[in-house]
Amino acid sequence: MGNKFVMVGGGSTQSPGILEVLRKRATELNLTELVLYDNDEKRVSLLGQYTEMYYKETGSKVNVSYTTNLDEAFYKADFLFLQIRPGLNKQRAIDEKICLSHGVVGQETCGIGGFSFAMRVIPAVLEIIQKVKEICPDAWILNYTNPEAILSEAIYKEFPEAKVLCICDMPISIEGAIAKYFGKEHKDLTFKYFGLNHFGWWTNIIDENGVDLLPQLRTDVLSGKIDTLLMSNEETEGDQYWIDTYRQMISLFKRFPEYFPNCYLQYYLTPDEMIEHDNVKFTRGDYVMQGREKHIFEECERVIEVGTAKDSKLHAGVHGNYIVDIAYAIIHNTRERFVVNKKNHGAISNFDPEAVVELPAYIGSSGAETINIGEIPTFQKGLMEMQKAYEQKTVETALTKSYQSAIEAVMLNKTIPNYTVGKKVLDELYTVNKEYWGVLR
Ligand code: G6P
Ligand code: MN
Repeated sequence: MGNKFVMVGGGSTQSPGILEVLRKRATELNLTELVLYDNDEKRVSLLGQYTEMYYKETGSKVNVSYTTNLDEAFYKADFLFLQIRPGLNKQRAIDEKICLSHGVVGQETCGIGGFSFAMRVIPAVLEIIQKVKEICPDAWILNYTNPEAILSEAIYKEFPEAKVLCICDMPISIEGAIAKYFGKEHKDLTFKYFGLNHFGWWTNIIDENGVDLLPQLRTDVLSGKIDTLLMSNEETEGDQYWIDTYRQMISLFKRFPEYFPNCYLQYYLTPDEMIEHDNVKFTRGDYVMQGREKHIFEECERVIEVGTAKDSKLHAGVHGNYIVDIAYAIIHNTRERFVVNKKNHGAISNFDPEAVVELPAYIGSSGAETINIGEIPTFQKGLMEMQKAYEQKTVETALTKSYQSAIEAVMLNKTIPNYTVGKKVLDELYTVNKEYWGVLR
């Protein structure tokens, strides 16, 4: 029997890259059935029809289909790749603008943009996991849905036994860029990392001979030899946002040279420098809608119209490869090293054992085994504790719909300077998100 893979949120603009890797690696994954599932009929139908044609015309034997019927999609599934976005990028851009108009970070995973997105996404994802439990309890769920930090906290709190791995392609992308800088392949290096999702640090970069390359990287940055890293990810290369972000990451490392930072720390350590470059009239959400989103669906329409995908090509990068590599590691029990979000359970010895943290882990058919980190320093621990309290308070708000809990969550976010701003941003976000958040009491 072959494996059935389901793309939950199959109409996502992030689907094409994954679909391309699945097509190329179908044999080694023993993939025989692929279903694109989405509650957005138009999108899933466009991407679904495209994928059917593209797979068939490139000689794939995989049986591709698409549906808006969840029960049908999940029936006998082996793997579910989850990436959903209630409110689409439209709602993302609305949130960004509200935050920016009050002078605070509006990014969809960091700051209060992340709070708003979490309020939309948590109920939807918990509902999906409950369905998996009922329909296909043996299936593995690999979750890319954002804001992964908060969402993973909600998932493991509500479903501690679920077969779900919460992942992000940012650590692997940054590790790839570091490897490239040293003229090495990612597989030649062993990275030691700890933190929360979009909120972590590398402590060591060990090469084939056991030498730690982090001191070298630090020297090169502090001496001014380098002020950025070349991207390792074909998907983001050339995108000004990522070019600026990689430069800012090196600038952060220069100012806090102990450990190498995940680039998303830019929103917490230098929010003023981030907002300075933001345009309240044209945000990242707008950019994605007018770029990737428009391009993908126009291409689907064109291919469907001409009736052939022969002159069309899907592009795969780190995002698609990473999730498929993890599925492969589970299927073949490779016990390869990745980075995942899991309950701490003592891996960071001086951090809440029940909190979800982002750590390197060896993945095989029984799931992920995280590595031991030991004690972390006061600076990182302090930042993580406040951020974790914010995440937990956000989960509590999504589950209880308490307004008091909401304002407390908002105040725990480091990007919020005071109560006046926090309350204004929260109230305005609530007004435009009621349909998704539900009623706060
Ligand atoms: C990286 C992050 C993801 C995030 C994406 C943003 O891959 O790890 O969590 O969703 O970047 O991409 P976008 O183009 O939508 O801003
Ligand atoms: Mn991410």
